[in-house]
Amino acid sequence: MPNVVVVGGQWGDEGKGKVVDLLCPAFDHVVRFNGGNNAGHTVRFADRHFALHLIPSGILQPNCRCLIGPGVVIDPIALLDEVRLIEEQAVSVRPRLLVSARAHIVLPGHRALDQARESSRGAGKLGTTGRGIGPAYEARAKRTGIRLGLARNPRRLREAVAAASGELADALARYPDAIVPTTDEIDRAVEAVLALAPLLGGVSQALAQASEKGESILFEGAQGTLLDLDHGTYPYVTSSGCLAGFAAPACGLPARAIDGVLGVFKAYATRVGSGPFPTELTDNIGEHLRRRGNEFGTTTGRPRRTGWFDAVAARAAVRWSGIEAIALTKLDVLDEVSEIRIATAYTDGGQTIEQLPDDAEDLANATPVYELMPGWQTNSSAVTAFRKLPVLAHRYVARLEELLGVPVVMISTGPRREETIVRHIKPFTTWAVRI
Ligand code: GDP
Ligand code: IMO
Ligand code: MG
Repeated sequence: MPNVVVVGGQWGDEGKGKVVDLLCPAFDHVVRFNGGNNAGHTVRFADRHFALHLIPSGILQPNCRCLIGPGVVIDPIALLDEVRLIEEQAVSVRPRLLVSARAHIVLPGHRALDQARESSRGAGKLGTTGRGIGPAYEARAKRTGIRLGLARNPRRLREAVAAASGELADALARYPDAIVPTTDEIDRAVEAVLALAPLLGGVSQALAQASEKGESILFEGAQGTLLDLDHGTYPYVTSSGCLAGFAAPACGLPARAIDGVLGVFKAYATRVGSGPFPTELTDNIGEHLRRRGNEFGTTTGRPRRTGWFDAVAARAAVRWSGIEAIALTKLDVLDEVSEIRIATAYTDGGQTIEQLPDDAEDLANATPVYELMPGWQTNSSAVTAFRKLPVLAHRYVARLEELLGVPVVMISTGPRREETIVRHIKPFTTWAVRI
Protein backbone atom coordinates (compact mmCIF):
# COMPACT_ATOMS: atom_id res chain seq x y z
CA MET A 1 0.00 0.00 0.00
CA PRO A 2 1.26 3.49 -0.79
CA ASN A 3 2.30 6.22 1.64
CA VAL A 4 0.95 9.67 0.85
CA VAL A 5 1.75 13.14 2.18
CA VAL A 6 -1.02 15.74 2.38
CA VAL A 7 0.25 19.31 2.54
CA GLY A 8 -1.28 22.75 2.29
CA GLY A 9 -0.27 24.59 -0.88
CA GLN A 10 -0.91 28.12 0.35
CA TRP A 11 -0.69 29.92 3.72
CA GLY A 12 -2.48 27.29 5.79
CA ASP A 13 -6.18 26.58 6.46
CA GLU A 14 -6.69 25.12 3.01
CA GLY A 15 -8.93 22.39 4.41
CA LYS A 16 -6.26 19.76 5.16
CA GLY A 17 -8.27 18.43 8.10
CA LYS A 18 -11.28 17.67 5.93
CA VAL A 19 -9.16 16.03 3.21
CA VAL A 20 -7.13 13.91 5.65
CA ASP A 21 -10.30 12.75 7.40
CA LEU A 22 -11.77 11.70 4.04
CA LEU A 23 -8.67 9.82 2.92
CA CYS A 24 -7.99 8.07 6.22
CA PRO A 25 -10.16 4.98 5.69
CA ALA A 26 -7.71 4.00 2.93
CA PHE A 27 -4.72 4.17 5.31
CA ASP A 28 -3.67 2.24 8.38
CA HIS A 29 -1.79 5.09 10.06
CA VAL A 30 -1.91 8.87 10.01
CA VAL A 31 0.96 10.90 11.40
CA ARG A 32 1.43 14.61 12.10
CA PHE A 33 5.00 15.57 11.24
CA ASN A 34 5.43 19.33 11.81
CA GLY A 35 4.26 22.34 13.78
CA GLY A 36 2.36 22.24 17.03
CA ASN A 37 -0.95 23.54 18.29
CA ASN A 38 -0.59 26.57 16.05
CA ALA A 39 -2.46 24.29 13.63
CA GLY A 40 -6.24 24.09 13.62
CA HIS A 41 -7.74 21.37 11.42
CA THR A 42 -11.51 21.24 11.14
CA VAL A 43 -13.45 18.07 10.47
CA ARG A 44 -17.22 18.07 10.02
CA PHE A 45 -19.58 15.24 9.26
CA ALA A 46 -23.30 14.89 9.85
CA ASP A 47 -23.93 17.41 12.65
CA ARG A 48 -20.56 16.88 14.31
CA HIS A 49 -17.73 19.40 14.37
CA PHE A 50 -14.16 18.88 15.58
CA ALA A 51 -11.21 21.28 15.69
CA LEU A 52 -7.94 19.36 15.95
CA HIS A 53 -4.69 21.05 16.89
CA LEU A 54 -2.16 18.32 17.67
CA ILE A 55 -4.01 15.03 17.22
CA PRO A 56 -4.09 13.84 13.59
CA SER A 57 -7.42 14.26 11.80
CA GLY A 58 -7.48 10.47 11.33
CA ILE A 59 -8.66 10.08 14.92
CA LEU A 60 -12.27 10.52 13.79
CA GLN A 61 -12.13 7.47 11.52
CA PRO A 62 -12.39 4.46 13.81
CA ASN A 63 -9.79 2.15 12.27
CA CYS A 64 -6.93 4.55 11.81
CA ARG A 65 -3.95 4.56 14.19
CA CYS A 66 -2.67 8.06 14.91
CA LEU A 67 0.86 9.19 15.62
CA ILE A 68 2.54 12.47 16.47
CA GLY A 69 6.08 12.55 15.15
CA PRO A 70 9.37 13.74 16.68
CA GLY A 71 9.33 16.97 14.63
CA VAL A 72 6.16 18.25 16.29
CA VAL A 73 6.43 20.57 19.31
CA ILE A 74 3.94 19.71 22.02
CA ASP A 75 2.26 21.85 24.59
CA PRO A 76 1.48 19.07 27.08
CA ILE A 77 -1.51 20.83 28.65
CA ALA A 78 -3.00 21.55 25.23
CA LEU A 79 -2.52 17.93 24.11
CA LEU A 80 -4.10 16.52 27.27
CA ASP A 81 -7.05 18.90 26.93
CA GLU A 82 -7.48 17.87 23.31
CA VAL A 83 -7.43 14.18 24.20
CA ARG A 84 -10.07 14.77 26.89
CA LEU A 85 -12.25 16.93 24.68
CA ILE A 86 -12.37 14.37 21.89
CA GLU A 87 -12.91 11.48 24.29
CA GLU A 88 -15.84 13.40 25.79
CA GLN A 89 -17.39 13.21 22.34
CA ALA A 90 -17.28 9.41 22.48
CA VAL A 91 -14.24 8.98 20.21
CA SER A 92 -11.57 6.59 21.45
CA VAL A 93 -8.21 8.38 21.50
CA ARG A 94 -5.72 6.92 24.00
CA PRO A 95 -5.66 3.34 22.68
CA ARG A 96 -5.01 4.64 19.14
CA LEU A 97 -2.54 7.47 19.76
CA LEU A 98 1.25 7.18 19.90
CA VAL A 99 3.29 10.29 20.64
CA SER A 100 7.00 10.47 19.92
CA ALA A 101 9.16 10.50 23.04
CA ARG A 102 11.55 12.68 20.99
CA ALA A 103 9.01 15.45 20.45
CA HIS A 104 9.97 18.69 22.16
CA ILE A 105 7.89 20.30 24.89
CA VAL A 106 6.37 23.76 24.55
CA LEU A 107 6.73 25.25 28.05
CA PRO A 108 4.50 27.99 29.52
CA GLY A 109 7.55 30.28 29.26
CA HIS A 110 7.78 29.66 25.49
CA ARG A 111 4.19 30.76 25.10
CA ALA A 112 4.75 33.84 27.26
CA LEU A 113 7.88 34.75 25.28
CA ASP A 114 6.08 34.36 21.94
CA GLN A 115 3.31 36.69 23.16
CA ALA A 116 5.66 39.21 24.79
CA ARG A 117 7.76 39.50 21.64
CA GLU A 118 4.70 39.95 19.47
CA SER A 119 3.27 42.75 21.61
CA SER A 120 6.66 44.49 21.73
CA ARG A 121 6.84 44.41 17.91
CA GLY A 122 3.74 46.61 17.65
CA ALA A 123 2.82 47.22 14.02
CA GLY A 124 5.81 45.10 12.93
CA LYS A 125 4.45 41.93 14.53
CA LEU A 126 4.60 38.62 12.67
CA GLY A 127 1.06 37.76 13.70
CA THR A 128 1.99 34.44 15.30
CA THR A 129 -0.66 32.27 16.91
CA GLY A 130 0.92 33.03 20.32
CA ARG A 131 1.23 29.33 21.11
CA GLY A 132 4.97 29.43 21.85
CA ILE A 133 5.89 27.57 18.66
CA GLY A 134 8.83 29.79 17.65
CA PRO A 135 10.52 29.80 21.09
CA ALA A 136 10.08 26.02 21.46
CA TYR A 137 11.74 25.34 18.09
CA GLU A 138 14.47 27.85 19.01
CA ALA A 139 15.18 25.90 22.20
CA ARG A 140 15.37 22.69 20.15
CA ALA A 141 17.86 24.27 17.72
CA LYS A 142 19.88 25.78 20.61
CA ARG A 143 19.93 22.29 22.16
CA THR A 144 18.36 23.47 25.39
CA GLY A 145 14.95 21.97 24.62
CA ILE A 146 13.26 19.27 26.69
CA ARG A 147 11.79 16.19 25.08
CA LEU A 148 8.64 14.41 26.18
CA GLY A 149 10.60 11.22 26.83
CA LEU A 150 11.92 12.78 30.03
CA ALA A 151 8.50 11.91 31.47
CA ARG A 152 10.12 8.55 32.25
CA ASN A 153 12.38 10.25 34.76
CA PRO A 154 10.23 12.67 36.82
CA ARG A 155 13.14 14.00 38.88
CA ARG A 156 15.22 14.94 35.84
CA LEU A 157 12.12 16.30 34.12
CA ARG A 158 11.36 18.63 37.06
CA GLU A 159 14.98 19.83 37.17
CA ALA A 160 15.12 20.45 33.43
CA VAL A 161 11.80 22.31 33.40
CA ALA A 162 12.85 24.44 36.38
CA ALA A 163 16.16 25.34 34.72
CA ALA A 164 14.56 26.13 31.35
CA SER A 165 11.78 28.13 33.00
CA GLY A 166 14.37 30.14 34.94
CA GLU A 167 16.15 31.01 31.68
CA LEU A 168 12.87 31.90 30.06
CA ALA A 169 11.98 34.15 33.02
CA ASP A 170 15.30 35.99 32.45
CA ALA A 171 14.44 36.42 28.78
CA LEU A 172 10.94 37.62 29.69
CA ALA A 173 12.35 40.22 32.10
CA ARG A 174 13.33 42.29 29.05
CA TYR A 175 9.67 42.82 28.16
CA PRO A 176 7.89 45.15 30.60
CA ASP A 177 4.44 43.78 29.69
CA ALA A 178 5.41 40.11 29.79
CA ILE A 179 3.38 37.78 31.95
CA VAL A 180 5.90 35.45 33.57
CA PRO A 181 4.36 32.00 34.21
CA THR A 182 3.74 31.22 37.87
CA THR A 183 5.23 28.20 39.62
CA ASP A 184 1.74 26.69 39.61
CA GLU A 185 1.48 26.97 35.84
CA ILE A 186 4.90 25.41 35.40
CA ASP A 187 3.97 22.57 37.78
CA ARG A 188 0.80 21.94 35.80
CA ALA A 189 2.86 21.59 32.63
CA VAL A 190 5.13 19.05 34.38
CA GLU A 191 2.09 17.10 35.60
CA ALA A 192 0.67 17.12 32.06
CA VAL A 193 3.94 15.70 30.67
CA LEU A 194 3.82 12.95 33.31
CA ALA A 195 0.19 12.20 32.42
CA LEU A 196 1.20 11.78 28.77
CA ALA A 197 3.82 9.14 29.63
CA PRO A 198 1.61 6.13 28.73
CA LEU A 199 1.16 7.51 25.21
CA LEU A 200 4.87 7.93 24.49
CA GLY A 201 6.95 5.69 22.28
CA GLY A 202 9.12 5.38 19.20
CA VAL A 203 7.28 6.74 16.19
CA SER A 204 10.04 5.96 13.72
CA GLN A 205 10.17 2.32 14.89
CA ALA A 206 6.39 1.98 14.86
CA LEU A 207 6.13 3.33 11.31
CA ALA A 208 9.04 1.24 10.05
CA GLN A 209 7.42 -1.90 11.47
CA ALA A 210 4.09 -0.92 9.92
CA SER A 211 5.78 -0.48 6.53
CA GLU A 212 7.42 -3.89 6.81
CA LYS A 213 3.97 -5.38 7.32
CA GLY A 214 2.75 -3.60 4.19
CA GLU A 215 0.60 -1.11 6.10
CA SER A 216 0.11 2.35 4.68
CA ILE A 217 0.84 5.76 6.16
CA LEU A 218 -0.78 9.12 5.55
CA PHE A 219 1.41 12.07 6.58
CA GLU A 220 -0.70 15.03 7.67
CA GLY A 221 1.01 18.36 7.08
CA ALA A 222 0.27 21.38 9.20
CA GLN A 223 0.46 25.03 8.11
CA GLY A 224 1.11 25.53 4.38
CA THR A 225 3.97 25.48 1.93
CA LEU A 226 4.21 29.29 1.89
CA LEU A 227 4.70 29.30 5.68
CA ASP A 228 7.72 26.96 5.41
CA LEU A 229 10.67 28.23 7.44
CA ASP A 230 13.14 28.03 4.52
CA HIS A 231 11.04 28.54 1.43
CA GLY A 232 8.08 30.57 2.64
CA THR A 233 7.71 34.34 2.85
CA TYR A 234 10.44 34.71 5.49
CA PRO A 235 10.30 36.11 8.16
CA TYR A 236 6.49 35.87 7.96
CA VAL A 237 6.61 32.10 8.29
CA THR A 238 6.28 29.49 10.98
CA SER A 239 9.29 27.87 12.65
CA SER A 240 9.16 24.41 11.10
CA GLY A 241 9.39 22.75 7.71
CA CYS A 242 6.03 22.56 5.93
CA LEU A 243 7.06 20.96 2.61
CA ALA A 244 6.06 17.41 1.76
CA GLY A 245 9.70 16.35 1.48
CA PHE A 246 10.08 17.08 5.16
CA ALA A 247 7.53 14.45 6.20
CA ALA A 248 9.62 11.27 6.02
CA PRO A 249 12.87 12.51 7.63
CA ALA A 250 10.87 14.34 10.32
CA CYS A 251 9.43 10.96 11.30
CA GLY A 252 12.73 9.11 11.06
CA LEU A 253 11.90 7.40 7.77
CA PRO A 254 13.87 7.38 4.50
CA ALA A 255 12.85 9.76 1.69
CA ARG A 256 11.83 6.75 -0.41
CA ALA A 257 9.06 6.03 2.11
CA ILE A 258 6.85 8.54 0.27
CA ASP A 259 4.86 7.36 -2.76
CA GLY A 260 2.67 10.36 -3.48
CA VAL A 261 2.02 13.98 -2.58
CA LEU A 262 -1.42 15.54 -2.50
CA GLY A 263 -1.55 19.33 -2.23
CA VAL A 264 -4.61 21.01 -0.75
CA PHE A 265 -5.48 24.41 -2.23
CA LYS A 266 -8.41 26.69 -1.62
CA ALA A 267 -10.18 27.93 -4.75
CA TYR A 268 -9.11 31.41 -3.63
CA ALA A 269 -6.47 32.42 -1.05
CA THR A 270 -6.35 33.33 2.62
CA ARG A 271 -3.65 34.28 5.06
CA VAL A 272 -3.85 34.82 8.79
CA GLY A 273 -1.10 36.86 10.43
CA SER A 274 1.21 39.39 8.81
CA GLY A 275 3.27 39.16 5.64
CA PRO A 276 3.03 39.83 1.93
CA PHE A 277 -0.15 38.74 0.13
CA PRO A 278 -0.17 40.27 -3.37
CA THR A 279 -3.68 39.12 -4.32
CA GLU A 280 -5.27 40.32 -1.07
CA LEU A 281 -8.74 41.84 -1.39
CA THR A 282 -9.55 44.61 1.04
CA ASP A 283 -12.85 45.47 -0.65
CA ASN A 284 -16.40 44.08 -0.53
CA ILE A 285 -15.43 40.93 -2.41
CA GLY A 286 -12.77 40.19 0.20
CA GLU A 287 -15.35 40.66 2.93
CA HIS A 288 -17.82 38.47 1.04
CA LEU A 289 -15.26 35.63 0.78
CA ARG A 290 -14.49 35.96 4.50
CA ARG A 291 -18.16 35.71 5.50
CA ARG A 292 -19.22 33.15 2.89
CA GLY A 293 -16.15 31.00 3.60
CA ASN A 294 -16.31 31.53 7.37
CA GLU A 295 -12.70 32.66 7.22
CA PHE A 296 -11.97 33.03 10.92
CA GLY A 297 -8.99 31.19 12.45
CA THR A 298 -9.68 27.71 13.85
CA THR A 299 -6.98 28.25 16.48
CA THR A 300 -7.16 31.96 17.31
CA GLY A 301 -10.53 33.07 15.89
CA ARG A 302 -8.77 35.90 14.02
CA PRO A 303 -10.41 37.07 10.78
CA ARG A 304 -8.40 35.64 7.89
CA ARG A 305 -7.21 37.93 5.11
CA THR A 306 -8.77 36.90 1.80
CA GLY A 307 -7.73 37.25 -1.85
CA TRP A 308 -7.70 35.73 -5.33
CA PHE A 309 -5.96 32.48 -6.21
CA ASP A 310 -2.26 33.21 -6.74
CA ALA A 311 -0.94 30.85 -9.40
CA VAL A 312 2.62 32.21 -9.12
CA ALA A 313 2.79 31.28 -5.44
CA ALA A 314 0.91 28.02 -6.08
CA ARG A 315 3.37 26.98 -8.81
CA ALA A 316 6.23 27.49 -6.35
CA ALA A 317 4.38 25.33 -3.81
CA VAL A 318 3.87 22.59 -6.42
CA ARG A 319 7.58 22.59 -7.20
CA TRP A 320 8.82 22.72 -3.59
CA SER A 321 6.54 19.97 -2.35
CA GLY A 322 6.44 17.89 -5.54
CA ILE A 323 2.64 18.06 -5.57
CA GLU A 324 1.27 15.50 -8.04
CA ALA A 325 -2.42 15.89 -7.41
CA ILE A 326 -4.60 18.62 -5.98
CA ALA A 327 -7.57 18.68 -3.64
CA LEU A 328 -9.33 21.96 -4.43
CA THR A 329 -11.45 23.13 -1.52
CA LYS A 330 -14.14 25.75 -0.92
CA LEU A 331 -15.21 26.01 -4.56
CA ASP A 332 -18.73 26.77 -3.26
CA VAL A 333 -17.45 29.96 -1.63
CA LEU A 334 -17.00 31.48 -5.12
CA ASP A 335 -20.62 30.74 -6.10
CA GLU A 336 -21.89 34.31 -5.92
CA VAL A 337 -18.81 36.04 -7.38
CA SER A 338 -19.56 37.51 -10.81
CA GLU A 339 -15.98 37.78 -12.05
CA ILE A 340 -13.18 35.61 -10.68
CA ARG A 341 -9.50 36.51 -10.94
CA ILE A 342 -6.36 34.39 -10.97
CA ALA A 343 -2.90 35.94 -10.61
CA THR A 344 -0.72 34.46 -13.36
CA ALA A 345 2.33 36.72 -12.90
CA TYR A 346 3.39 39.88 -11.08
CA THR A 347 4.89 43.16 -12.19
CA ASP A 348 7.30 45.34 -10.28
CA GLY A 349 8.66 48.62 -11.69
CA GLY A 350 7.49 47.70 -15.22
CA GLN A 351 9.16 44.27 -15.09
CA THR A 352 7.15 41.06 -15.37
CA ILE A 353 7.90 38.49 -12.67
CA GLU A 354 6.90 34.86 -13.14
CA GLN A 355 8.65 33.34 -10.15
CA LEU A 356 7.86 33.95 -6.51
CA PRO A 357 10.45 36.51 -5.26
CA ASP A 358 12.80 35.30 -2.50
CA ASP A 359 12.42 38.42 -0.45
CA ALA A 360 9.20 39.23 1.42
CA GLU A 361 9.57 42.94 0.68
CA ASP A 362 9.93 42.28 -3.06
CA LEU A 363 6.78 40.16 -2.88
CA ALA A 364 4.97 42.92 -1.00
CA ASN A 365 5.91 45.35 -3.78
CA ALA A 366 4.74 43.03 -6.56
CA THR A 367 1.49 43.83 -8.36
CA PRO A 368 -0.46 40.83 -9.61
CA VAL A 369 -1.24 40.37 -13.30
CA TYR A 370 -4.77 38.97 -13.39
CA GLU A 371 -6.56 36.69 -15.74
CA LEU A 372 -10.31 37.25 -15.55
CA MET A 373 -12.88 34.49 -15.69
CA PRO A 374 -16.66 34.73 -15.51
CA GLY A 375 -18.13 33.41 -12.28
CA TRP A 376 -20.78 30.67 -12.45
CA GLN A 377 -23.21 32.42 -10.09
CA THR A 378 -25.03 29.15 -9.52
CA ASN A 379 -25.16 27.00 -6.43
CA SER A 380 -22.36 24.43 -6.23
CA SER A 381 -22.74 23.77 -2.49
CA ALA A 382 -22.76 20.10 -1.55
CA VAL A 383 -22.43 18.92 -5.19
CA THR A 384 -20.83 15.46 -5.19
CA ALA A 385 -20.46 14.73 -8.94
CA PHE A 386 -18.15 16.67 -11.23
CA ARG A 387 -20.64 16.64 -14.10
CA LYS A 388 -23.17 18.40 -11.87
CA LEU A 389 -20.95 21.44 -11.40
CA PRO A 390 -21.73 24.49 -13.55
CA VAL A 391 -19.77 24.59 -16.83
CA LEU A 392 -18.02 27.80 -15.77
CA ALA A 393 -16.80 26.02 -12.63
CA HIS A 394 -15.41 23.23 -14.88
CA ARG A 395 -13.57 25.93 -16.80
CA TYR A 396 -12.14 27.45 -13.63
CA VAL A 397 -10.88 24.08 -12.39
CA ALA A 398 -9.41 23.26 -15.82
CA ARG A 399 -7.62 26.62 -15.94
CA LEU A 400 -6.05 26.04 -12.52
CA GLU A 401 -4.92 22.58 -13.64
CA GLU A 402 -3.37 24.12 -16.72
CA LEU A 403 -1.59 26.88 -14.81
CA LEU A 404 -0.21 24.49 -12.20
CA GLY A 405 0.36 21.48 -14.46
CA VAL A 406 -1.27 19.19 -11.88
CA PRO A 407 -4.66 17.41 -11.95
CA VAL A 408 -7.40 18.35 -9.52
CA VAL A 409 -8.49 14.97 -8.18
CA MET A 410 -10.79 16.08 -5.43
CA ILE A 411 -13.09 19.09 -5.17
CA SER A 412 -14.66 20.16 -1.93
CA THR A 413 -18.03 21.88 -2.14
CA GLY A 414 -18.81 22.31 1.54
CA PRO A 415 -17.27 21.79 4.98
CA ARG A 416 -18.76 18.33 5.56
CA ARG A 417 -17.07 15.05 4.78
CA GLU A 418 -19.88 14.12 2.39
CA GLU A 419 -19.70 17.41 0.42
CA THR A 420 -16.90 16.27 -1.86
CA ILE A 421 -16.29 15.32 -5.49
CA VAL A 422 -13.68 12.64 -6.15
CA ARG A 423 -12.29 12.36 -9.67
CA HIS A 424 -10.40 9.25 -10.67
CA ILE A 425 -7.43 10.66 -12.49
CA LYS A 426 -3.90 9.29 -12.69
CA PRO A 427 -1.54 9.45 -10.83
CA PHE A 428 -3.89 9.76 -7.91
CA THR A 429 -5.55 6.45 -8.68
CA THR A 430 -2.17 4.77 -8.95
CA TRP A 431 -1.70 5.48 -5.26
CA ALA A 432 -4.60 3.08 -4.93
CA VAL A 433 -6.44 5.37 -2.60
CA ARG A 434 -9.89 3.98 -1.89
CA ILE A 435 -12.44 6.35 -0.48
P1 GDP B 1 -6.83 23.26 7.71
O1 GDP B 1 -6.06 23.99 8.75
O2 GDP B 1 -6.12 23.22 6.39
O3 GDP B 1 -7.29 21.92 8.16
O4 GDP B 1 -8.16 24.13 7.45
P2 GDP B 1 -9.11 24.77 8.58
O5 GDP B 1 -9.93 23.70 9.16
O6 GDP B 1 -8.33 25.65 9.49
O7 GDP B 1 -9.96 25.76 7.70
C1 GDP B 1 -10.78 25.31 6.67
C2 GDP B 1 -12.22 25.77 6.97
O8 GDP B 1 -13.01 25.64 5.81
C3 GDP B 1 -12.91 24.92 8.02
O9 GDP B 1 -13.81 25.73 8.73
C4 GDP B 1 -13.64 23.87 7.20
O10 GDP B 1 -14.79 23.36 7.87
C5 GDP B 1 -14.05 24.70 6.01
N1 GDP B 1 -14.14 23.98 4.73
C6 GDP B 1 -13.35 22.98 4.26
N2 GDP B 1 -13.71 22.65 2.99
C7 GDP B 1 -14.74 23.47 2.67
C8 GDP B 1 -15.52 23.64 1.48
O11 GDP B 1 -15.32 22.99 0.47
N3 GDP B 1 -16.49 24.60 1.51
C9 GDP B 1 -16.73 25.36 2.61
N4 GDP B 1 -17.69 26.27 2.53
N5 GDP B 1 -16.02 25.23 3.74
C10 GDP B 1 -15.02 24.30 3.77
P1 IMO C 1 -3.06 25.07 9.85
O1 IMO C 1 -2.35 23.76 10.06
C1 IMO C 1 -2.73 29.35 9.13
C2 IMO C 1 0.78 31.37 10.77
C3 IMO C 1 0.46 32.40 11.83
C4 IMO C 1 1.57 33.40 11.57
C5 IMO C 1 2.76 32.49 11.24
C6 IMO C 1 3.68 32.22 12.42
O2 IMO C 1 -4.34 25.21 10.56
O3 IMO C 1 -3.13 25.40 8.39
P2 IMO C 1 3.42 30.64 14.54
O4 IMO C 1 2.41 30.65 15.65
O5 IMO C 1 3.47 29.37 13.77
O6 IMO C 1 4.78 31.08 14.99
O7 IMO C 1 2.91 31.80 13.55
O8 IMO C 1 2.21 31.28 10.78
N1 IMO C 1 0.24 30.03 11.02
C7 IMO C 1 -0.86 29.55 10.42
N2 IMO C 1 -1.72 30.13 9.56
N3 IMO C 1 -2.90 28.07 9.48
C8 IMO C 1 -2.02 27.46 10.30
O9 IMO C 1 -2.07 26.13 10.57
C9 IMO C 1 -0.97 28.21 10.85
N4 IMO C 1 0.04 27.92 11.71
C10 IMO C 1 0.78 29.05 11.79
O10 IMO C 1 -0.81 32.96 11.64
O11 IMO C 1 1.28 34.16 10.44
MG1 MG D 1 -6.28 25.59 10.07
